[in-house]
Amino acid sequence: MTDEVNQQFPGSYNHIIEATKLSGFTMASDVLTCSLLRTLAASKPSGKFLELGTGTGLSTAWILDGMDEASSLISIDNDPAFVEIAKRFLGNDNRLNLVVSDGGKWIEENNTQNFDYIFADTWHGKYLVLDEALSMLNKGGLYIIDDMLPQPNWPEGHQEKAINLISYLEKREDLLLTKQVWSTGIAVAVKK
Ligand SMILES: C[S@@+](CC[C@H](N)C(=O)[O-])C[C@H]1O[C@@H](n2cnc3c(N)ncnc32)[C@H](O)[C@@H]1O
Repeated sequence: MTDEVNQQFPGSYNHIIEATKLSGFTMASDVLTCSLLRTLAASKPSGKFLELGTGTGLSTAWILDGMDEASSLISIDNDPAFVEIAKRFLGNDNRLNLVVSDGGKWIEENNTQNFDYIFADTWHGKYLVLDEALSMLNKGGLYIIDDMLPQPNWPEGHQEKAINLISYLEKREDLLLTKQVWSTGIAVAVKK
């Protein structure tokens, strides 16, 4: 077995990668992470999906590729220039709602919504307002985070934040967590 993705990539993937390079966006999700996101997305037919941190839409494209026609995805980012790229290549998918907003503000204003799958790829829902985000997760719902292994762009002190986050998730009695020393370090939890 090799650490490669040999299955078909989403149709929009190459276009988004090209536009991402031109945009200067440097926080794109790893392709292995994206592959796992797609696989797990397919486990939630008719699911309600939430992505916190759209970026230019790379992970969004993979999540959409795993979702069935009856599923829907809300994806949030506070940077309109990056979201514009996602909109250009994914905007005609009517399962997708791209929202430009501060993640914390959005969670606060939408805390009665519930999701079957949350990919938390920004501060909010991960290092900030974590309890609030987890309270939006349905029973059996998946909570997914990446970048849990040390990354070259981490600022001083970030490793401690990541260790504390994992330790907090492990202590929660309503979650079953698995940590993977693979890709950028992915943790997947299911709500009991
Ligand atoms: C790691 S990147 C997301 C990468 C993306 N999921 C992908 O696959 O390429 C984190 C994103 O969080 C966004 N962000 C930063 N602060 C935010 C905030 N307060 N609210 C919402 N989004 C925020 C950034 O604009 C950035 O696009």
